[in-house]
Amino acid sequence: MTAVGKGIARLDARAKVTGKAQYAAEVPVANLVHAVLVTSTQAAAKVAVDVKDAEHAPGVLAVLTHHNAPKLPGAKTKTGPVDRVLQLLQEDEAPYNDCPIAVVVADTLERARAAAERVAVRYSSGGVQTELRERLAEAYAPKTAGPREPADSSRGDVPAGLEAAFVQIDATYTTTNQHHNPMEMHGLTAVWQGEQSLTVYDTSQGIFGVRKKLATVFGLAESNVRVISRYVGGGFGCKGSPWSHLALCALAARVTGRPVRLVLTRPQMFSLVGYRPRTIQRVVLGADARGKLTAVRHDVTSETSRLDEFSEPSALQTRMLYACPNVATSHRLVRLDVPTPTFTRAPGEATGTFALEVALDELATALKLDPLELRLRNYAERDPHEDKPWSSKELRRCYQQAAERFGWAARRLDPGSQRDGKLLVGWGMATATYPAKQSAASASARIDREGRVLVQAGTQDIGTGTYTIMAQIAADALGVPVDRVRFELGDTSLPETPVSGGSQTASSTGSAVQAAALALKKKLLALGAPLRAPELDLRALDAWLAQRTEPEHRAEARTEEKAERKRYSSHSFGAHFVEVKIDADLRQIRVTRCVSAFAAGKILNPKTAHSQYIGGMVWGIGLALLEHTARDPRNGRVVTRDLADYHVPVHADIPELEVIQVHERDPYVNEIGAKGIGEVGITGMAAAIANAVHHATGKRVRDLPITLDKLL
Ligand code: MOS
Repeated sequence: MTAVGKGIARLDARAKVTGKAQYAAEVPVANLVHAVLVTSTQAAAKVAVDVKDAEHAPGVLAVLTHHNAPKLPGAKTKTGPVDRVLQLLQEDEAPYNDCPIAVVVADTLERARAAAERVAVRYSSGGVQTELRERLAEAYAPKTAGPREPADSSRGDVPAGLEAAFVQIDATYTTTNQHHNPMEMHGLTAVWQGEQSLTVYDTSQGIFGVRKKLATVFGLAESNVRVISRYVGGGFGCKGSPWSHLALCALAARVTGRPVRLVLTRPQMFSLVGYRPRTIQRVVLGADARGKLTAVRHDVTSETSRLDEFSEPSALQTRMLYACPNVATSHRLVRLDVPTPTFTRAPGEATGTFALEVALDELATALKLDPLELRLRNYAERDPHEDKPWSSKELRRCYQQAAERFGWAARRLDPGSQRDGKLLVGWGMATATYPAKQSAASASARIDREGRVLVQAGTQDIGTGTYTIMAQIAADALGVPVDRVRFELGDTSLPETPVSGGSQTASSTGSAVQAAALALKKKLLALGAPLRAPELDLRALDAWLAQRTEPEHRAEARTEEKAERKRYSSHSFGAHFVEVKIDADLRQIRVTRCVSAFAAGKILNPKTAHSQYIGGMVWGIGLALLEHTARDPRNGRVVTRDLADYHVPVHADIPELEVIQVHERDPYVNEIGAKGIGEVGITGMAAAIANAVHHATGKRVRDLPITLDKLL
């Protein structure tokens, strides 16, 4: 009767497709008014804002600018390494283009918009620097790569390893800006209860981070801020940190004394909620005649803003993915007049595996070796960076099963040697990898006299299946059918859990949910409940519960990374095998087939897992071929500011994607034995496509996205 492992459809699916699911900007609130952000059209500028005309527009309740906005005690405070410095109308500056410079509040959205058009702004700007390539001389070493890892690493002797090499690859790879663009734009409804208590309906990957940020900005006790986020229409990283519009909406609500709603426009999504920074990555590989790596260097430069620091940690996987005695990596940053970048769909690994896995393909080509064989010859039997055993690693079976299913053995070694009529055919492969993370989490479980189970944790469901898998985990731990369990999330009044980023919700919150349900079961057993039998007699349980005097039984639990786990290194792994077809006139590149296999510990729900993997692979196709944010170098303004100009993959871009979920037993990684699956799917995907394009054409494209002009 186990629920875990079953491909149960999302429990929230019906609510979502019938419109019953209420999103942050749809929650009905009495007395509601609407806020619109006015954003700058210049960067690195001083601003003077004239609001006289706007203030007199119909329906306007307030126009906030740096002239009249209340001073906020914690406006600039960063609450932790994943938090961001906000722009809250505290000074007369627009550091980047499309920066908030006024907030207009009116009785209707239309009137707020109309009034916002009447805000007049004058700029004085002394020139803008937004080009990464032009400012490389200013690169500096950040304290960390990503939130926590050291920026540099070194083991062995790279120069000696290169000296000893039979063949060397030395190439530079570049990736461009991407924006997350979830379907549901950022939006919130802010309601004050008096001066000291605030409730916010937000769309968020991390409600406890939002609570902390709002409490800090407004100088409130955290217990006086409540954040509710029941449904999230996609996140992809941009909803992982609190951004300026959030505090500005709460500020507008405080100033007007009314509940205020604010939804970003699609163009504003390109400046106010982060993006993936550009990277320039140099990879140097040395190998002996049999393809054994003798040295690896991976040096990454990416961009950040002048206000804040975010580094895309693109070389982290290079430290551990292959067995090699001599490895050095580095991360550098360049400050530009741009908004602060942030976590985007496997931050680091998505861009870093592009560089590393294309470089390996170049090495295989130089050695006239099959690229899969090259990976197998350098297979890491333990983590060479941390010098620890893996908690589990079924990557070899991923390679074997996906290669066999794809028919990789029939691949011809020489580029340009496979045809389908007039089409050039290319087959490429790459490795996928993403770290298995776990943070402290808590949860509660209760059962009432009717046998109904309610399990609660503050966490978020960003479309990944949290509602569903948590109910499955709780049902099995307690020993009842899954339809007896209701799981509630998305509210800071529920037990605290970590951000739903870094693919860690199943492992973190899942462990706490399991522990709470087990604690409840233990309590019930101590009271003599008939829950012990291998086959549960539900009627006996119901009869027992009904005759109890307590209205309900309840237990709570908090879990964190186990001490034992620290003796192991834990990562999800996978392998992609991709076919591309390119017409000989170079009019179109199409991914025509893809088989990927993943190993990520226990498979909690093969259906929701499948959709996570597919989603990651689709992102990978976007990263490889389509997604590209273009910025005007004259003023730092994003010019691809809607979904017509910013290309994401659509149905016609995506072939049948095959996913093999490889079973992997992991007794160490966490209480539930599952690793993250949300982000591993994108890693390696762009490289597999780039490698397939090379196999089809003989042309090596080292600059994403791979557009046709780069093949000429
Ligand atoms: Mo993911 S970019 O860690 O939300």
